[in-house]
Amino acid sequence: MVSTTPDVRPSNPRFSSGPCAKPPQWTLDKLADAPLGRSHRAAVGKSKLAAAIDETREILGIPADYRIGIVPASDTGAVEMAMWSMLGARPATMVAWESFGAGWVTDVVKQLKIEAEVKTAEYGRIVDMASLDYDTDVVFTWNGTTSGVRVASGDAIPSDREGLTICDATSAAFAQDLPWDKLDVTTFSWQKVMGGEAAHGMLILSPRAVERLESYTPAWPLPKIFRMTKGGKLIEGIFKGETINTPSMLCVEDYLVALDWAREVGGLEGLKARANANAQAIWDFCDARDWIANLAEDEATRSNTSVCLKFTDERVKDGAAFAKAVAKRLEKEGVALDIGAYRDAPAGLRIWCGATVETSDIEAMLPWLDWAFEAEIAAQAEAA
Ligand SMILES: Cc1ncc(COP(=O)(O)O)c(C=O)c1O
Repeated sequence: MVSTTPDVRPSNPRFSSGPCAKPPQWTLDKLADAPLGRSHRAAVGKSKLAAAIDETREILGIPADYRIGIVPASDTGAVEMAMWSMLGARPATMVAWESFGAGWVTDVVKQLKIEAEVKTAEYGRIVDMASLDYDTDVVFTWNGTTSGVRVASGDAIPSDREGLTICDATSAAFAQDLPWDKLDVTTFSWQKVMGGEAAHGMLILSPRAVERLESYTPAWPLPKIFRMTKGGKLIEGIFKGETINTPSMLCVEDYLVALDWAREVGGLEGLKARANANAQAIWDFCDARDWIANLAEDEATRSNTSVCLKFTDERVKDGAAFAKAVAKRLEKEGVALDIGAYRDAPAGLRIWCGATVETSDIEAMLPWLDWAFEAEIAAQAEAA
């Protein structure tokens, strides 16, 4: 029974799954070099945008023949752009094990009305990636942010596939290995593992994705912000930093600052190690208690970024109300902000463990979770 509050508080209580914590030691004045009030098409703007692309390639180890574009509307914009531009050339397989994947299913089946096989799994589980037909276009989410379940590896994706793989990797990029040779379209936004700002999406295309764009014209009209070809040829400028419309140069600067920090902590390996250490601290905490558990059933699929937890204590009567009350207590104490489970996910908590979160802050927060749990159990008994 923990009745007194712990002595130590996290120095940063921001554990939101997006927008995520800024990199440690981040301050607004780090953005002083942003070319504000200048055209993004001026040399200075273009060079910043090109640097964002080049440094992304370097840190993520993206092959030289893959295109990387900065596109409108955050990760959603990048996924939509890919689906609306490329799907329809062949049947699709839509894979979903949480709410964002389910959103892509709706788009393809109800809006685009493409012939599609839909494969889903309940929250906490995953679809068997080896069971999919890769001669269709496969759309999936690498890391299910709202269920804390991730693809363990890309081994099941054949190298000689006929279809394209379109992968929403927004809460995986910079924290998990992404097998570029198995991914034709990959998307993410700056607001997740890098702690950047939302509103800009990253769209990464394999040569096969480009081939699709240049050889296939969808039957439906495409708005300007989705168009990546002109006269049947890829608009190469988009992938050199000549964005389709105006980006925020303040956000670009912020992403560049985050990329600098990423290099300082050891690049992709360093970022992965930070997320792994954060998640491990929570996994160990759960292993030592019988009242809380990871939502992900299979250890190999446990996310190291969006760690989703469920309360398993039999004394918990109304799971949703209980989890909300625990999250509220932690928020009120200022020790953990925004850690309630996603609105469509099972009741519980979701604690972001991406690289910008300090392991010391996770470790300082966990005793508070003990405290909040006990306090809420007591409150529930009192109310009964
Ligand atoms: C897996 C996944 N896909 C898409 C999105 C939407 O991202 P954005 O709001 O950056 O467009 C999110 C946001 O949390 C996400 O987690």
